[in-house]
Amino acid sequence: MPFQTGNGITYKSIFKTMLKKILLGLLVIFIIAQFFRPEKNQHLRDLNEDFLRVMDPPLAIGRDIKAACYDCHSNYTNYPWYSNINPISYWMADHIKHGKGNLNFSEWTKYDTETQIHKLEEFVEEAKGRHMPIKGYLITHKEARLNNEQLAKMIAWVETVKKSLQ
Ligand code: HEC
Repeated sequence: MPFQTGNGITYKSIFKTMLKKILLGLLVIFIIAQFFRPEKNQHLRDLNEDFLRVMDPPLAIGRDIKAACYDCHSNYTNYPWYSNINPISYWMADHIKHGKGNLNFSEWTKYDTETQIHKLEEFVEEAKGRHMPIKGYLITHKEARLNNEQLAKMIAWVETVKKSLQ
């Protein structure tokens, strides 16, 4: 028999035992990983520094910007239930860290005017090209999927804010 080792144990059974051990090992790692959590991005905000608060857009536009951008670009993220599962939690924390690092709406007034104008230029660019929000986010966040009309209104409003700063 080609699949027989010297002492009657088949390679198939050795392979099966190994596979079981590997899967068990992965399960243990997964469970232990659940004890580690990145810090949540839910800090009390000074709303007086907040972009939407200061700029006061029409209600629907404010709602769209909040739904589409704020989870990654502010100091307060609304976490879905699966964000508690590792490694998803770390993956999200990374997005938030980089998103906020580039543009933080919660600390809008801390930017000088020149920076604000530049950020709004980037805002328009990213939104127009539908580069933002990042694709994966849209799969699970229906409210962040803006239709063309919502997007056009949002961009037009951002353009007027930008002009008012120039
Ligand atoms: C799921 C997280 C997430 C959401 C939601 C999101 N962004 Fe981002 N954003 C990021 C990350 C991460 C970066 C950092 C750049 C990169 O790695 O692509 C970024 C970068 C940016 C930048 C800087 C781009 C540059 O050239 O440096 C702008 C502007 C921006 N986002 C605007 C927006 C706007 C506007 C929305 C809403 C319409 C939005 N983002 C929604 C994660 C997000």
